[in-house]
Amino acid sequence: NGNAAKAGKTRNILEKLEESGKNCIIFYGSQTGTAEDYASRLAKEGKSRFGLETMVADLEDYDFDNLDTIPSDKIVMFVLATYGEGEPTDNAVDFYEFITGEDVQFSESNDPPLENLKFVAFGLGNNTYEHYNSMVRNVNKALEKMGAQRIGEAGEGDDGAGTMEEDFLAWKEPMWTALSEKMGLEEREAVYEPIFGITEREGLTKDSREVYVGEPNKMHLEGTAKGPFNAHNPYIAPIAESHELFSVKDRNCLHMEVDISGSNLSYQTGDHIAVWPTNPGAEVDRFLNILGLSDKRDAVISVKALEPTAKVPFPTPTTYDAILRYHMEINAPVSRQFLDTLKAFAPDEESRAEMTKLGGDKDYFHDKVSTQNLNIARVLERVAKGKQWTGVPFSAFIEGITKLQPRYYSISSSSLVQPKKISITAVVERQDLPGRDDPFRGIATNYLLALKQKQNGDPNPEPYGQSYEIHGPRNKYDGIHVPVHVRHSNFKLPSDPSKPIIMIGPGTGVAPFRGFVQERAREVENGADIGKTILFFGCRKRSEDFIYEAEWEQHKQTMGDKFEMHCAFSRESAQKVYVQHLLKQEGKLINDLLEQKAYIYVCGDAANMAREVNSVLVQIIAEYRGKTEAKAEDIVKNMRAANQYQEDVWS
Ligand code: 2AM
Repeated sequence: NGNAAKAGKTRNILEKLEESGKNCIIFYGSQTGTAEDYASRLAKEGKSRFGLETMVADLEDYDFDNLDTIPSDKIVMFVLATYGEGEPTDNAVDFYEFITGEDVQFSESNDPPLENLKFVAFGLGNNTYEHYNSMVRNVNKALEKMGAQRIGEAGEGDDGAGTMEEDFLAWKEPMWTALSEKMGLEEREAVYEPIFGITEREGLTKDSREVYVGEPNKMHLEGTAKGPFNAHNPYIAPIAESHELFSVKDRNCLHMEVDISGSNLSYQTGDHIAVWPTNPGAEVDRFLNILGLSDKRDAVISVKALEPTAKVPFPTPTTYDAILRYHMEINAPVSRQFLDTLKAFAPDEESRAEMTKLGGDKDYFHDKVSTQNLNIARVLERVAKGKQWTGVPFSAFIEGITKLQPRYYSISSSSLVQPKKISITAVVERQDLPGRDDPFRGIATNYLLALKQKQNGDPNPEPYGQSYEIHGPRNKYDGIHVPVHVRHSNFKLPSDPSKPIIMIGPGTGVAPFRGFVQERAREVENGADIGKTILFFGCRKRSEDFIYEAEWEQHKQTMGDKFEMHCAFSRESAQKVYVQHLLKQEGKLINDLLEQKAYIYVCGDAANMAREVNSVLVQIIAEYRGKTEAKAEDIVKNMRAANQYQEDVWS
């Protein structure tokens, strides 16, 4: 249970604070690393600006039954992401159940139990989901109810509106003011103190056996990788097949088959597959160049935490090249605060002034950086007009850039039909943006494209894509492989196949429904009696991006009138036709099926499509059941609560 326990470390917060001489602990509940990143930033800032002795901690590494013994001269911060349908992140499940439990038992019997506890809270959420920021809201409520004293507001960042970073920045200033007043802290001139020390290792080369050049952990380094495969340990899976699904040239949609038969991995229809991407060489080169590290790319270095509570986010000894290529999110949009940190290391006065402006002026930053989706190296290149930034301590990058995270895809096959082969369906993200001379490209989907081109022996592969290191560290992934693991989801077919289902999935939102329909077709072949199976699909044009068209036809043969497909082609006529328009046209059918307890599923774009589908459902229920809008809304809410209405959406 937790890494701390494994390493024989204490799970007692107070003991930890005392033995390490800290007075501020910042817990994170993080799924994709953003909350963890914010926690680290708070820790750094607390230390450099206010002299707090801070440490960052994973919620799953501690117990919380002695939260009541934390004295009032210490501060506990919570940075909590809300995940999916208002759920805690995996590492926060135990904490959340404990703290919001009916009858929480603490080690002492104070009344109220948490009267001494001072806390700070920030949440990361997405307002396109029903349970917006429910983690921070519920934890805050629970703590206050038990007498704990919150300092500053309980902040809420909104990924749905795309304002997470600005919400965080706007929240933390008044929080620091309130905190320094409460605790009598003096703000000082922030001085940069590196958290990580870097030493070059003479005598080792990138070919030395003990040097990590991209292997995610020791087992992989030693060639003894085995399960369980999870977010800490990927399975290096062969790609059995890959092909293009679109029939247009300017956009790509990949279909891939990942073979898990050599592992103990398993999946269920509706689960997610995590793909561990690597960064494209083009961006690694850009980064090394701007830092003046090109000549040292393969120098072997050890990285040590200079702070007892900080963790080096990748295994060492390693090389600069490997860190940037395999472990850091160097292509992510850069944050305003990070630019502000780096201004001190600008190569000249002009660049320093520009960095100050970018760091301090929200609108200017938005204009110059956000709208073009620039990564850190691109910003540094532009700001200093190509001059190198040799003065930035490498530690600042390790601290300021998040760990490279696996990307999750809705599995597009049925585990009943192909239990040991996982299908992926993904549109390759490539976007022309004004102000950029090359398109913005998504890391993982372009990595998959490069793998596909390699697998197919494509004679004209994209040069940018070719810069990916697709053979893996030490060319170990012979043939074509991709590192993966599987994540369980609650997006599941009804266990009774005779129940009707309605699926709404435009674009690659159809991915899990390919699996659902495959599964039901197989059940028909096995002689089962299946319920109505209705799919709403949408794309631009039948002739361009109608994915899996032949397969749907095949399923129709097998399933007869049990399978019904409604297609919205948005660019075949002057008027846009979307899935929700067709849904509305079929209002009577939809209502009838829902009254027969049909399950309804939505997959794809969260921001617009899923929302509009929700409101069309409300309209349908109001119209055909003669209800008021408000009543119909309640009915839809209850359908969600009862899992009759399920979403697998992303933004
Ligand atoms: P469009 O790009 O022509 O606007 C898959 O991406 C399909 O979803 C496309 O046909 C796309 O249409 C459509 N789409 C775009 N916005 C949508 C929305 N808000 N609701 C439903 N479908 C949408």
